[in-house]
Amino acid sequence: MKAVRFHEYGGIDVLRVEEVERPVPGPDQVLVEVRAAGIQPGEAMIRSGGLHERWPATFPSGQGSDLAGVIVEVGSHVRGFAVGDEVLGFTHDRASHAEFVAVDDVRLTPRPKGLSWEVAGSLHVAGATAYACVFAVDPGPSDTVVVSGAAGGVGSLAVQLARRRGATVIGLAGEPNHAWLKEHGVIPVEYGDGLAERIRQASGGNVDAFIDTFGTGYVELAVELGVRPERINTIRDWGTAAKFGAQTVGESGAACAVVLGELARLAARGELEVPIARTYPLDRVQDAFRDLEQRHTHGKIVLRP
Ligand SMILES: NC(=O)c1ccc[n+]([C@@H]2O[C@H](COP(=O)([O-])OP(=O)(O)OC[C@H]3O[C@@H](n4cnc5c(N)ncnc54)[C@H](OP(=O)(O)O)[C@@H]3O)[C@@H](O)[C@H]2O)c1
Repeated sequence: MKAVRFHEYGGIDVLRVEEVERPVPGPDQVLVEVRAAGIQPGEAMIRSGGLHERWPATFPSGQGSDLAGVIVEVGSHVRGFAVGDEVLGFTHDRASHAEFVAVDDVRLTPRPKGLSWEVAGSLHVAGATAYACVFAVDPGPSDTVVVSGAAGGVGSLAVQLARRRGATVIGLAGEPNHAWLKEHGVIPVEYGDGLAERIRQASGGNVDAFIDTFGTGYVELAVELGVRPERINTIRDWGTAAKFGAQTVGESGAACAVVLGELARLAARGELEVPIARTYPLDRVQDAFRDLEQRHTHGKIVLRP
């Protein structure tokens, strides 16, 4: 089967699509023929070696957490799934950017009717992370919450989940994304010089919670705006969070089939929009990451094996 591999840390050019052995599912696993698999900035950071201390790679390394597809084999202990079932899920084995992936049955949920393959295959990392961010800062109807990277993969879901709790949501984004944010009941504010003052104006001077999905300066900004550290969550700037006592709850805080299944149902019912920016065939994985690493994706970029 074809799968993405890299044999050393480096730039996008170290990514290869290679012919490798098809995985054999263990007793508690199923083999999924992948129809769609989302890509993440974190995968680019792992590939570059930038996360070696935290999450080292072993070579040759595969890649990919998000997945959706059709079950083609089931392990001997699996009871809840059968060959032919359409599922979405995730693996923590860096393996879903491939034609087939072996996945623990507890990390899968049935694909709801009407949910596109692209959305199903790119929902887990962004969805679980957004869910965890919102849970961490716990916004309610009387709260104003600011979200940085508000139109990105994680941010576009976090703003909608915070709105579902009745909060006033201010979304930091480039001007081209402001119309989308407004359509979703979010007050858009452009990032860049003078941002603190623009947020004060948009919020009437009162910000209760801050979700940072971008990094670099946003935890400090939240503190400057008077947000209590326990109501700041960043998924990127761990060092500054430690300095101020802010939270750092991410994907692992909500990585389970129950959360994924709930988000999938919301998306299938049209109550949660997962914007799909672009799709690429697996063979064009380098182009997909060139696109992602511009850092201006609205929603998700998806590989289609
Ligand atoms: N800890 C975890 O568990 C976890 C999980 C998932 C992701 N992450 C991390 O979270 C970050 C976001 O992930 P993602 O998938 O949402 O990324 P993404 O889809 O690539 O989104 C990038 C966003 O960054 C925004 N942006 C670009 N320059 C900016 C600036 N100077 N100030 C503010 N925003 C800016 C862009 O906004 P415009 O397009 O509007 O300009 C875009 O919406 C990544 O660093 C990723 O590694 C962590």
